[in-house]
Order: sequence, then structure tokens, then C-alpha cells
Amino acid sequence: MARLLNAEDFRGAARKRLPKGLFEYIDRGTEAELAMADIRHSLDRIKFKQSVLSGQSQCDMTTELFDRSYPTPLIVAPTALAGLVSYDGEVKLARAASRLQIPFCVSTQSVTSIEGIRKGAPDSELWLQLYVWKNRELTWQLLDRARNAGVSTLVITVDTPLSPKREYNQHNGFSVPFVPSVRGVVDVLSRPAWLGSVMMRYSMTSGMPSYAHYPAEFKTAITRDAVAQDVQIESGLGWDDIAQIRDRWSGKIIIKGILSEKDAVQSVKAGADGIVVSAHGGRNFDVAPAPANVLPGIAAAVGEKIAIMADSGVRRGSDVLKYLALGSRSVLVGRLPLYGLAAAGEEGAFDALSMLMDEMHSNLIFAGAKNLEDFKKNAIASSGHPQR
Ligand code: FNR
Repeated sequence: MARLLNAEDFRGAARKRLPKGLFEYIDRGTEAELAMADIRHSLDRIKFKQSVLSGQSQCDMTTELFDRSYPTPLIVAPTALAGLVSYDGEVKLARAASRLQIPFCVSTQSVTSIEGIRKGAPDSELWLQLYVWKNRELTWQLLDRARNAGVSTLVITVDTPLSPKREYNQHNGFSVPFVPSVRGVVDVLSRPAWLGSVMMRYSMTSGMPSYAHYPAEFKTAITRDAVAQDVQIESGLGWDDIAQIRDRWSGKIIIKGILSEKDAVQSVKAGADGIVVSAHGGRNFDVAPAPANVLPGIAAAVGEKIAIMADSGVRRGSDVLKYLALGSRSVLVGRLPLYGLAAAGEEGAFDALSMLMDEMHSNLIFAGAKNLEDFKKNAIASSGHPQR
């Protein structure tokens, strides 16, 4: 395999490896994909100050978050169906994250259960991303399972009240649960290596992949009609629900999908410990603002009261630093480790994250910073964004 030097290389390798339907499910956005373009543009126009002759050849990227110290301000974002990208994909992501001593956030919509991931990656710091299901009893059972699996932090995703309009999935015949179609079957058959190393392995071991956190009676659902109401994402979620979860969960709570000062202030009131300023990677609401454009205002409004994280569009180490400079404490990455996972399993995810860290380090040296706090104080030369 050619050397993978940047996000585009990893993405290209993923494209070659995965069926088109699965690749586009990971890679693309929603509707006209305006949000994705805007996220890219909002990051690209930020410039850092260069500082020369600082006498620095090393920069310390240590980050404090929730009274813990991490070697780098990165978190592997929750991504549904990572276990389709590679056999045991969630375990591989957890292991890659663990080797870098960063958290891995497990999606509610994983192919491997939280218990299975814990077993496969015993030393990893696992967070659980929660989609609140219509059936609250089942939702609370999932919280109990997470607690028993040693999950420290709950990430409640609030920006997906319904299934976004992603037309390419329909064009590609890609749906979850899988509905067999000629196009979908031809697509899958066109990637025999993936078929053999992922789907055949599941069928020979744990059975065909499905959402592992669904209760057993829903797991075998392979048609859309069979997805029970109980495990559909609650579309009418409100702040009262967050308060209820706060009462039930003694660990940290992060609310993911905040893009306004009003909702950030409300998150503080609801007792959250953190928020993720996120546009869901441009996958949900196509006319949502880009996180980089709203982050400074949100940081000014609640930055002292709550831990702010951000995500969407990170493809370079400098993108991570941009979110930090705009007011984020740590940054989640979704697609990049998935591209790595598709390209070369655990090693690929590890390499993609390591590449990001290398780029962060070199950018910090160019900026003349000795640590992240030093960098954040004086980072931005021009942005087009309101300064904090
Ligand atoms: C996601 N994301 C996501 N978020 C979430 O809260 N629960 C989920 O199940 C998923 N699933 C998911 C699947 C795939 C394939 C992708 C690419 C993303 C969103 C994710 O957590 C994160 O917000 C974005 O991926 C960040 O943008 P980048 O880094 O992918 O550009």
C-alpha cells in the first residue's frame, strides 16, 4: 500500500477498499452538502501568527479535561457502524485511541456492544454516546450497561431529532437496516476483499452485523419495517429529558450538537459538564452554522462554566489547533480515524491520528508556542471571526 501521508490519502485508500454505499455513508453530508463546504471554508480562512526565534524545538500538547491529563487534545468521535468499516471496527478504534491515551466515544449505533468493546480493549477510556430512544426503560438499561462496562462519560447527542435527508444513500441502495437491492448487492460484490475480511468473518463468528445495543428481539431486524418504535431516536427530546438523565447518571455528561449561545447557556443550567460545539460533520442540518463561526461567542458565554469541545471537518493538525484557538478545550475527530480504519484496521486508525498529532506539533513550533495554553493566548492572526 502506498504511504498515506495526509487525510486525502487515507480517504482515497478507504474509497478503494469499501463498497461505494458504505464509503459515501461515511464520507458525505446531507442535502446539497452546503454545511460540509462551509465547515471547510470556515476553517481554511483562519491564519495563525508565526513567531520566529522562540528557542523552542518541542511543544507540550498536554491537555487537562475533567481533572484528567491527556497527552493531546483529541477524542475519537462516536461514529455509527464503525464495525462495518473493518471487522471489529469499534474495538480497533478503542485500541488505537488507547495507545495514544485518548478517549474513544462509543456510538449508540455500534456493531459491537459496549461490553464487547470493553473486553477487546480493556485499558481504553470509553465514553458512551447516547441517542435517547423512544422507550425510556430500554434507554436506562443501556446506561446501566455502560456504567457496568466502566464508562466514565456520557455524550448525549441532541442534534439528530430525525433521520437527515441523505439522498445518496438511497441512490446507492444503502440503508440501515440493510434492505437488499440489486444495486446494493452489486456494490458489495465489487469489493471482494472487504466482503471476505468483514462480512464473511462476521457470518462465521458473531453472525451478521446489526446494532449491538438494540435489545435482542430487535437485533435480527433486516428490513426497515422491522425497526421497532422502541429503539427509534426520540424526536421530541427536551431539556426535561436532560435533567432526568442528569439524575440517573453520576459520571460526566456532555451535550453534543450545540451551535448557539442560547443552547450552551441552557446546557450549563441543565447540569452538563461539557458541550460539543458540533455540526455533526455536516451530516444533519445543511444550513447550520459552521462550528468555527459560533465557537468564539459560545466560549465567551459559557467558557468558564463548562468544558467546551468542538468537532466537524478536522483533516489537518492545524484544524484541531484552530478549534482550540477559538475556545475549545479538546477536539473530536470522526471521519479521519474511520478512513484509517478502512485502509488498515487498528494500525490505520492509529496512523491517521498520529499523523494529526505530528501536524499539530509542527504547526505549534511554527507558531512559536511552548504549550497549548501559550498557543491559545496569542494564536490567531486573522480569521474573519469575532475574537474572544
Ligand atoms: C457520525 N457522527 C455521529 N455522531 C453521533 O453523535 N452519533 C453517531 O452515531 C454518529 N455516527 C456517525 C457516523 C459517521 C459515519 C460519521 C462520519 C459521523 C458524527 C461524529 O460524531 C462527529 O460529530 C463528526 O464525524 C465530526 O466531523 P468529522 O470529523 O467527521 O469531519
